[in-house]
Amino acid sequence: MPAEYALGVQLEFVAEPEAQAILARTLMPSQELDTLAIKHAGELYTKYCALCHGDERQGYAADNAPSLRSKSLLATSMNNNFMRYTIQFGRANTAMAGYLKAQGGPLDYIEIELLLEYLKQTAGVTEAIDVSREPVIGDIPRGEGLYNQNCATCHGVKGEGVSAPALANPMLLATATDHFLRYAIAEGRDGTPMIAFKDSLSDNDIDALTAFLRTRASGWDIPRLDTVRVPTPDEYILNPDSEAPEFKLRAGRYVSAEQVNQALADGKRMVILDARSEVAWRQMHIPGAAPVPYYEDPENFIDDIPNDGTQIVIYCACPHAASERVQSTLKRYGYENTAIIDEGILVWAQMGFPVRNGT
Ligand code: HEC
Ligand code: HEC
Repeated sequence: MPAEYALGVQLEFVAEPEAQAILARTLMPSQELDTLAIKHAGELYTKYCALCHGDERQGYAADNAPSLRSKSLLATSMNNNFMRYTIQFGRANTAMAGYLKAQGGPLDYIEIELLLEYLKQTAGVTEAIDVSREPVIGDIPRGEGLYNQNCATCHGVKGEGVSAPALANPMLLATATDHFLRYAIAEGRDGTPMIAFKDSLSDNDIDALTAFLRTRASGWDIPRLDTVRVPTPDEYILNPDSEAPEFKLRAGRYVSAEQVNQALADGKRMVILDARSEVAWRQMHIPGAAPVPYYEDPENFIDDIPNDGTQIVIYCACPHAASERVQSTLKRYGYENTAIIDEGILVWAQMGFPVRNGT
């Protein structure tokens, strides 16, 4: 695998495809929507989305928003979180905002599930196209040349998006697998300016393009990579000689990213735990955070975490599933001051708060 492959990528989706796919399914309405639900979802669509994506979901009503009815998009995103996360969290630095209530948007999880189901049903898409979750290996320099010749006019010389989606966007690349991108390049997006490049480029060319796009996963300006080392338990308490932060919690358990960032800047005493896998921790974490994956057996970590009232902050990517699992374990063992970062690390990074990208 080329070293560039994992550069600073927030690849929750690629790193934990099975867990993510299961999470994706737990919220899905189990049956076809009835006419009342379709009507309600249609009203949500008209109110919140039609402005840019068009009355008929055709796209390009404003801000070059893509089509939301191409079968190519809908079928390849049925078995994963690509569209779900885009709607929940948005794409930073594009016109696509996050719509989830927890992000300050107007929609709750169920309404977003309704919208997803509505988009699929109204486009008549019933069969998922299951794209592989394996990496695509290709000749990266060759991909760069091909990109400049064939793609830059619409997608931008630096992948910033001119008349088409910004391909260098970290949120796009964090939620799209290699084969998802490859499928879009090879097959195009029906009914949109994105043509099928399998007609003019070879399989090798398309692999090269995909591999090149993956190297841009942290934007065109790739961040510096640090060699990171998992902290040892005696390093868990940050600023041990300082005082505890005073957090205002939402619903008794969630703390805003803003408050945690401030507490870090002020050098407050606390422990920060990353509830994702160690792979995800390596790719990007909050400085000082220790990985305690949600699937880990408590006896493997509980003795390492101070149980003396120290403020413990836990985060995952999103929504709160993984961090809630770790928090309830800690509560069961009698820990008193625990809080979950409400927005999760993807949004933390989008807000420009400090992260470390590692290898
Ligand atoms: C004529 C303009 C144009 C050119 C040239 C073009 N694209 Fe696109 N591309 C688009 C548009 C527009 C979309 C969004 C289509 C839609 O509405 O879903 C898109 C979508 C995509 C997507 C899916 C992104 C997403 O958010 O789902 C990928 C990946 C992609 N293009 C890659 C490429 C690559 C690689 C090339 C060069 C080989 C290329 N495109 C050339 C216009 C273009
Ligand atoms: C202000 C304009 C605007 C509004 C309103 C808007 N979007 Fe978007 N949306 C965009 C743009 C622009 C993009 C492409 C961003 C990029 O990657 O460059 C996008 C991308 C998307 C994508 C990803 C599609 C793809 O091919 O990558 C989905 C899904 C989506 N929007 C759904 C929605 C839904 C559902 C709503 C309503 C709840 C909505 N959007 C409201 C502008 C908008």
